[in-house]
Amino acid sequence: MARFYVTTPIYYVNDVPHVGHAYTTVAADTVARWRRLRGDDVMFLTGTDEHGQKVLRAAEKLGLTPQAHADATHLRYRALWERLTISYDRFIRTTDARHQAFVQAQLQKLYEDGQLYASDYSGWYSTSAERFWAEDELLDGKCPDSGQPVEWITEKNWFFKMSAYQERLLAHIAAFPDCIQPELRRNEVLGYLKKPLGDLCISRPKARLSWGIPLPFDPEYVTYVWFDALSNYLSAIDGGDEAFWPADYHILGKDILTFHTVYWFSMLFATGYAPPKHVYAHGWWTVEGTKMSKSLGNVVDPHLLVDSYGADAVRYFLLREIPFGGDGDFSHQAFLVRYNADLANDLGNLGHRVLATMLPRWLGGVVPEAGPQTENDLALATLARRVTEAFDTNVSALQFRQALEALWELVRAGNKYVDTEEPWALNKRGDTARLGTVLRNVLEIWRIVASHLACVCPQKSIEMLAKLSLTEPDLAPTFDRLVPGTPVAAGDPLFPRLDAIPAAIADLIAAAKLAAPAPEPKARRAPKPISPTPEPPVSTDAPATPVATPAAAPAAPAAPAAPALIEYDDFGKVQLRTGRIVSAERHPNADKLLVLQVDVGEQAPRQIVAGIAAAHTPESLVGKDIVVVVNMKPAKLRGLVSQGMLLAAGGGDVAALLTAGADIAPGTVVK
Ligand code: MSP
Repeated sequence: MARFYVTTPIYYVNDVPHVGHAYTTVAADTVARWRRLRGDDVMFLTGTDEHGQKVLRAAEKLGLTPQAHADATHLRYRALWERLTISYDRFIRTTDARHQAFVQAQLQKLYEDGQLYASDYSGWYSTSAERFWAEDELLDGKCPDSGQPVEWITEKNWFFKMSAYQERLLAHIAAFPDCIQPELRRNEVLGYLKKPLGDLCISRPKARLSWGIPLPFDPEYVTYVWFDALSNYLSAIDGGDEAFWPADYHILGKDILTFHTVYWFSMLFATGYAPPKHVYAHGWWTVEGTKMSKSLGNVVDPHLLVDSYGADAVRYFLLREIPFGGDGDFSHQAFLVRYNADLANDLGNLGHRVLATMLPRWLGGVVPEAGPQTENDLALATLARRVTEAFDTNVSALQFRQALEALWELVRAGNKYVDTEEPWALNKRGDTARLGTVLRNVLEIWRIVASHLACVCPQKSIEMLAKLSLTEPDLAPTFDRLVPGTPVAAGDPLFPRLDAIPAAIADLIAAAKLAAPAPEPKARRAPKPISPTPEPPVSTDAPATPVATPAAAPAAPAAPAAPALIEYDDFGKVQLRTGRIVSAERHPNADKLLVLQVDVGEQAPRQIVAGIAAAHTPESLVGKDIVVVVNMKPAKLRGLVSQGMLLAAGGGDVAALLTAGADIAPGTVVK
């Protein structure tokens, strides 16, 4: 029995869980359930990150101790995971005594090995963001996160000699290229490692940050939250389950990739552990085209989604809608369309006609005997084998969308099979033997689909199997598994068709629209921004996205028409910043497009989809410094979200990318 260890990040206990948190956890749950179904010994870990000044401040406001506050708030995650049927094996909290003891033991070991040293640290400190910033990271001299003033602080701190591990990190990634996935994220990390790696400050003075794990060798200090947090993946299996290490998958969002690769791998090298086998960074969800944020009030509450559609439809949508790794947009309209098309129609049809009508009316409501198989039957069986293999490979590689696409090929083929075999005609002719074979084959497809869905839609899978009087999934792709004579029942429809967005959600959308400022008149276009024609937004009521289309190459150079003049304020609306391309790859569905990850000085790189493939190869772009319009509304380009535009000069093939030069740090404002 193979061991399989999968983790989610541990979530900040202060945050209210939203659809982004649900996404990571549903993905991890799906692969955990799948590996259990395949017979593996699975350890699925999730939990909460409970130290830090923000937790302390929130607790103080409520008149609670930070521990009491964390005890209460961490339950929000437990409650949501229960509603989403998350089957974690262990829930770790960084305030667990065992975890704290483990972290202290690691720190002591590093200290005794001479891997830590004390030194003065100086920098711009932001009290609101609780962190230091480099000079070139400040925005107008203020904290780029909170916009609050920063102060210059010099203080003694403890440092981990992370710089010593740069070569080893590079050698490890070269030897195990798939340890960081998808590929573009690996390139991002390699880009990061092109610069000399510094040492890592792993302490905070207690005077400034008291809610943390004390350094065992210097009680005036607590450890840096990320040193504490990353260690959870080991502390959770300490004391009996060490054999699960190295973890098979750390699943996380792209914003915390550097912590989970550069920092974490170095910490592991230093303490004598192997790095995890795979770190997989997924993309980010925007909401109706906008960044999800508490201040915008557009955070998608997973509880509301579960109330409105049920947990399994939510799980299905999250995994089916966007490729795991890319960014995606959450739109309620898109949810409705996906729900009705795939779940209510395709899946609903497959079972309903046979289970509710044909079997009870014509064959006594039991599993029929199968007779000889025709060519059409055998083709269907071949398809079943192919798609189930594809499902296995794809879920095991976290390619959930592809896995579900494959399974739905079988669902649709099953529906087509009923249409072409015309059981109603067989019944009319009195050909009961062939009728039995046809319906039996459909029931076997139902069983195969239901069994595979056990990892994505666990509750509906149970209901689907119960209709065949089965209590356990049976993954075998052959048409000979059901026992003739077993009663079948139609039961309730699995995913009733929805004619409109459920009322509770429609009310919220209406309220948000009322609260939103009136749409601004379209700004005139900035000179030659590069972005291809966007796909129309899925939501019909979303405003058209004002993205410029690259001009077609003129047949002969013509004198440019006099440009319409704009006011200073018009130009002022366009926010430009310098960016550095950290990775680039071809768009999976469009030859002209490249998908870039661009560092524009924010927490995580932005994904920008640009129509520059005719003039640039992805390899030639990595490391290039460019200029980006950073306040474009996100647009979907052939299924991938683009959050910004590049500036470039030229005609249709837009060869020359604008740059402010390599000396200017990414994120610098261009005026
Ligand atoms: N506490 C740290 C993780 C420490 S792990 C050793 C943390 N917590 S978090 O609560 O802020 O985020 C947890 C996860 O949620 C991250 O993987 C993050 O990428 C993900 N998401 C947060 N917002 C998201 C979206 N809008 N979309 C998709 N995932 C997002 O970071």
